[in-house]
Amino acid sequence: MARPKIALIGAGQIGGTLAHLAAIKELGDVVLFDISEGTPQGKALDIAQSGPSEGFDATLKGTNDYADIAGADVCIVTAGVPRKPGMSRDDLLGINLKVMKSVGEGIAKHAPDAFVICITNPLDAMVWALQQFSGLPAHKVVGMAGVLDSARFRHFLSVEFNVSMKDVTAFVLGGHGDTMVPLARYSTVAGIPLPDLVEMGWTTQDKLDGIIQRTRDGGAEIVGLLKTGSAFYAPATSAIEMAESYLKDQKRVLPCAAYVDGAFGLDGLYVGVPAVIGANGIEKVVGIKLTADEQAMFDKSVESVKGLVAACKGIDATLA
Ligand code: APR
Repeated sequence: MARPKIALIGAGQIGGTLAHLAAIKELGDVVLFDISEGTPQGKALDIAQSGPSEGFDATLKGTNDYADIAGADVCIVTAGVPRKPGMSRDDLLGINLKVMKSVGEGIAKHAPDAFVICITNPLDAMVWALQQFSGLPAHKVVGMAGVLDSARFRHFLSVEFNVSMKDVTAFVLGGHGDTMVPLARYSTVAGIPLPDLVEMGWTTQDKLDGIIQRTRDGGAEIVGLLKTGSAFYAPATSAIEMAESYLKDQKRVLPCAAYVDGAFGLDGLYVGVPAVIGANGIEKVVGIKLTADEQAMFDKSVESVKGLVAACKGIDATLA
């Protein structure tokens, strides 16, 4: 059987890391696409030359021609511009919306059967726009945010508790921005919910609140340190986890920016929710009961995503 084909639209910091990870994990053959001439070709060659030492079997190709993504099984989109210090993700809206239009058209023409994972920010609005521009079914277009946000939460919690991050689970809902909703009640160490751990004296409510805020600001903290761009190792790893679940029909339950129509009281909006990813794409959105406080935080996040979608419609009249 031929290897799966993974097309990476955008060969910048995240795109290059995605290519390296996909090759090392032997998820398939990789095509790196970018409008910048030489960048995808150079990265593809560099990563291919790591193959003999690493011992992976995968081909890598860099290109500036959408025709080369033909028949891709998975497309991961990072095309666009990242944040600089002082910018919010929302500041990227106008410029990255135009990029989503050309990417959506390229995917619709050359890889209409692909499972598409969007990483470009502001995420919840860009994944919506990408689905609209590409016309692909909503269950085949998803945004990567929740896996990253919960990974950041898990990392901070494992440091606080001094336990393996393998035993820390975290649950983050809502938009990928300042209004994201890390749910302490559904986040655990070896199955013990965080509020119980506070009662057991493992940490204090103040420290937990600090960790939740640091998770919300996780992207900005890295932008502030790097100064010239935004995070790329953990975002790429998170998207690869989602791609692997699709390609291997693992049916992982992962938090992602999925199209929600019915669950959580929503009627057709991309926002961060737990979802099952398998061979059919987003196979199920897992609706959960929220407390009044959690619902209020989720509603606030939903309003902020709706505001971004409305702004997209204001910029591009072709968006319904
Ligand atoms: N089509 C294809 N590629 C494009 C286009 C386009 N229309 N416009 C820009 N690009 C390419 C750039 O040439 C660049 O190589 O997208 C790449 C983006 O790479 P980086 O600037 O290194 O950004 P990166 O850190 O990878 O982040 C990409 O993901 O997390 C988000 O906020 C982040 O929106 C940003 C995106």
